[in-house]
Amino acid sequence: MRNRVEVMHGVNLDQLGRRDPEHYPRVTLTELEVVIGRYARELGLEPSFSQTNHEGEFCESLHKASETVHGLVLNPGAWTHYSYAIRDALEVCGLPAVEVHLSDIEHREEWRRVSVIRDLCIGTVSGRGIEGYREALELLRNALRDEG
Ligand code: DQA
Repeated sequence: MRNRVEVMHGVNLDQLGRRDPEHYPRVTLTELEVVIGRYARELGLEPSFSQTNHEGEFCESLHKASETVHGLVLNPGAWTHYSYAIRDALEVCGLPAVEVHLSDIEHREEWRRVSVIRDLCIGTVSGRGIEGYREALELLRNALRDEG
């Protein structure tokens, strides 16, 4: 059964709990991962988690991801908006991926509207807070099911 998914958090997501409450829920990353883990298991998925503030490390995790999981939920933080290195690594990785953002990147600063990974992803969920991860996992679960 293709149900192993990795939830990858990028730069500054380890600072959740200290970030602008106008845009981010007041939870720590550890608390967020507990909730995401519950969502995933309710959907029949087996989740794993990672976070790094180092772009190269994020790329290397993408390089290796297909050895251990079937799909990805990605919140690369600010890298979303400009990292062609992460975009290329995601392309190499070849796994189905859903992009997720806690805040509503379409209605913040102009530069946040750009996502250099969006067209490589099977879906994007933004501005739905913690609940957005459930939607992202559902999209991924459905895609993995359709793949058979
Ligand atoms: C974010 C949105 C990004 O613009 C920002 O740089 C982040 C978090 C989000 O989850 O809303 O660090 O990806």
